[in-house]
Amino acid sequence: MKTHLTVVDHPLVQHKLTIMRDRETSTASFRQLLREISQLLAYEVTRELPLTTKRIETPLCPMDAPAIDGKKLVLVSILRAGNGLLDGILELVPAARVGFVGLYRDEETLKPVQYYYKVPAELGDRPVIVVDPMLATGNSSAAAIDLLKASGAKNLRFLCLLAAPEGIKRMREAHPDVPIVTAAVDERLDDNGYIVPGLGDAGDRMFGTK
Ligand code: URA
Repeated sequence: MKTHLTVVDHPLVQHKLTIMRDRETSTASFRQLLREISQLLAYEVTRELPLTTKRIETPLCPMDAPAIDGKKLVLVSILRAGNGLLDGILELVPAARVGFVGLYRDEETLKPVQYYYKVPAELGDRPVIVVDPMLATGNSSAAAIDLLKASGAKNLRFLCLLAAPEGIKRMREAHPDVPIVTAAVDERLDDNGYIVPGLGDAGDRMFGTK
């Protein structure tokens, strides 16, 4: 992937995102829409997976047909909101390996604190897609990618639903080799680190907590 930032401006993605942003949207609808958007975004973030050919026989003749090459893809969810993106993508790529990074945001410093880390072996040989719906300060995403690189990951992409300019800048400085795919880039962060206009707390909206 050549560009550092790809905004998926497809009408279906934008329409679904608008419904997700609306404060009146129910938890059930929010969850369903996140699943649907995750699959549309997955289409973009997996665009450059290498292809090989596989010998098969159609009902008419043998052919060398395209198939995804190499080691299994790894999806890494940044808990807990990342799981909303993860579930949808796993429906498309059911054989993917899955890792989890648990980071919570210290509400005073806005800095990430690690509480869980479990990832598949042989990360260095595999394409790794890190998923988190909200790229806000970029601190959690950059920290998660630091951990994954320390585990050997070399071929990384980051997938989110919404990004703030501050988060994109942070990621570009910390990890210029990691392309970002998002559905939209919003205006700014507020004083509490929320994306504006945003959609609120993605985890709360997805799980119905507050
Ligand atoms: N995390 C969220 O869930 N929402 C934001 O706006 C920022 C970070």
